[in-house]
Amino acid sequence: MLKNDLLLRAARGEETERTPVWLMRQAGRILPQYRELRGRLSGFKELVETPELAAEVTIQPVDALDVDAAIIFSDILVVPEAMGLPYEMVEARGPLFPDTVKSAQDVDRLRVADPEEHLGYVLEAIRVTKTALNGRVPLIGFAGAPWTILAYMVEGHGSKTFSKARRLLYANPELAHELLRKITATTIAYLQAQVAAGANLIQVFDSWAGILPPDHYREFSTRYIREICQAIPDVPVTVFAKGAYFATADFAQLPCRTIGLDWNEDPRTVRPLVGDKTLQGNLDPCALYGSPAQVREATMEMLRRFGPQRHIANLGHGVYPDTNPDNVRVFIDTVKEFSTTLRA
Ligand code: CP3
Repeated sequence: MLKNDLLLRAARGEETERTPVWLMRQAGRILPQYRELRGRLSGFKELVETPELAAEVTIQPVDALDVDAAIIFSDILVVPEAMGLPYEMVEARGPLFPDTVKSAQDVDRLRVADPEEHLGYVLEAIRVTKTALNGRVPLIGFAGAPWTILAYMVEGHGSKTFSKARRLLYANPELAHELLRKITATTIAYLQAQVAAGANLIQVFDSWAGILPPDHYREFSTRYIREICQAIPDVPVTVFAKGAYFATADFAQLPCRTIGLDWNEDPRTVRPLVGDKTLQGNLDPCALYGSPAQVREATMEMLRRFGPQRHIANLGHGVYPDTNPDNVRVFIDTVKEFSTTLRA
């Protein structure tokens, strides 16, 4: 039994007495406790692959920030690794795939991963976290959307343009679909296993949605996200596709409960287009660089724009590592107080 189920009620579209709040990337470098633990380890992967440590870091923001949800400490790139394409996390630079997908043979060599066998450490981290949380708040599980995962597998690292990945969509669309089908099958089994292990809500991250033209987005991304949503009927699903403002009408038709908005979108424009879906977001992460009074004002304005119900307060993307945790507290406390006032 959950002691605080605000997030789940908001996601299901039920009335809540205040707006729930959490932050994308809340577990991580904004917290000194995280940096301290991380500094004693060989690297990011040791943290991700050791269930007790991943659970500890998952719970840190619940203790330190009093957020209404925990998100399992992992990464979207564990999926390509489970399929046979290992990643490295290079200090201060980000992810790197020593091998990338270039040919049909490369796609053939990839497997549809078995969650218990190849991603058992994440499932175990979820089980350990659930026990330690003891119902304090819901636990969010997640995966990358197939398009974003393909982008890393083909490109090999972060990129402004992901032009190698985008080139594949033009040069060999059949091969792209072949790869997307394998990623989708892996992701569905993985997310179902996360739910079985105890995840209360699933979020799908399509971080590189915004670089595709609308037709490509429909052909190479939305349809696979739809398959994923259909395969997760038992818990609410949130789709966060960064930069995909052009896809709002399509998202309204997805069998998901919540749509995440980045900070470029205005909820007052989106709300009438998505029926009774819940919206999540969308304070500009850079707004947290302002003074506490400015953070408070910006947060109140965000809450007014979303309205009191069917909103999960969050940033428009992950919190930046050099953000002052005191301002994160101001954001969270303002959501809790002001969203209560909004209902009065
Ligand atoms: O608190 C949480 O949100 C849970 C953990 C989480 C991480 N990555 C941990 C992480 C989640 C949900 C992710 C998702 C993720 N990973 C996405 C989708 C969301 C988004 O930001 O668009 C993407 C694109 C990745 C890939 C990735 N992982 C990149 C590009 C980087 C390097 C950039 C960076 O922030 O350092 C990572 C590394 C990473 N993933 C860190 C953390 C806490 C930092 C690693 C460290 O501690 O050194």
